[in-house]
Amino acid sequence: MLSCFAFSAPPLNEARLLLGHLRGGDYAHAGDEEAIDLVISKVLELSPQTLQGPCLDVGSGFGGTASYLHRLHFSSTFGIDLDEAAVSYAQEHYPQITFTNGNAHQVTEFFDPDYFSFIYLFNVLYAVEDKPSLLKKLSKVAQPGALLAIFDYTTTQTDLQLNDLAGKPMYPIVVSELKSVLKETGWEVIEITDLSPSFLTWYRILLKKLEAERPLLSIRFSESSLTKVRTTFRTIENWLSSSLLGGVVIYAKRTS
Ligand SMILES: C[S@@+](CC[C@H](N)C(=O)[O-])C[C@H]1O[C@@H](n2cnc3c(N)ncnc32)[C@H](O)[C@@H]1O
Repeated sequence: MLSCFAFSAPPLNEARLLLGHLRGGDYAHAGDEEAIDLVISKVLELSPQTLQGPCLDVGSGFGGTASYLHRLHFSSTFGIDLDEAAVSYAQEHYPQITFTNGNAHQVTEFFDPDYFSFIYLFNVLYAVEDKPSLLKKLSKVAQPGALLAIFDYTTTQTDLQLNDLAGKPMYPIVVSELKSVLKETGWEVIEITDLSPSFLTWYRILLKKLEAERPLLSIRFSESSLTKVRTTFRTIENWLSSSLLGGVVIYAKRTS
């Protein structure tokens, strides 16, 4: 998979590719397809017509989630991600979806106002420091009444310091703060589900799989990528088990 981009696209983050391999799909969020099913079944329960409108995968990464929605018969799915290599990979592997390489903070430059009926972020908001600015921009490209689903890490400790697999700092959601931010940026919170126990289970399964498949994985991936993934996820697992970190999905609706 790596070789097809050797001359035409910027280098892919090998640790993230390894993670996708381990997860059995081009996903980089906790819970893989189980998490997507959980979120989408709720979205369709809240608003079945969401299937018919355009939806936006913010921080679409390698494109696995957008492709999964496409297979679930969402009529048109778009992705945006600031990682150029990930967008090239996604566009090559999932040509039926339109992926844009750009910063979601500039979403209004790429899409028409009031366009999307569903916007979702799977493990993306944790990477965004200025959450109010992003949520405001997203509300501009959402139709009145459009749904927003935010699936991510939570914390109650604002001084936690952790880097993600790309080496960038993480800013997990503080739920009480985000509720106010959503309200101030044009969103009405509909439902909040604590997924902390599920996040812990998902990371434990992932780590077990990593250990079990390590001999095979080491043929294809470098030792440094294997160590990076293991160290990052052990740390997250420790924090989840000591409740320093949690997981959540928040559903909101764009106010008119
Ligand atoms: C952990 S990955 C999750 C990828 C994808 N949502 C998934 O579940 O497979 C986080 C992604 O968010 C992207 N990202 C972070 N901040 C972003 C921003 N401001 N605009 C666009 N993409 C962003 C990163 O480049 C990365 O691909």
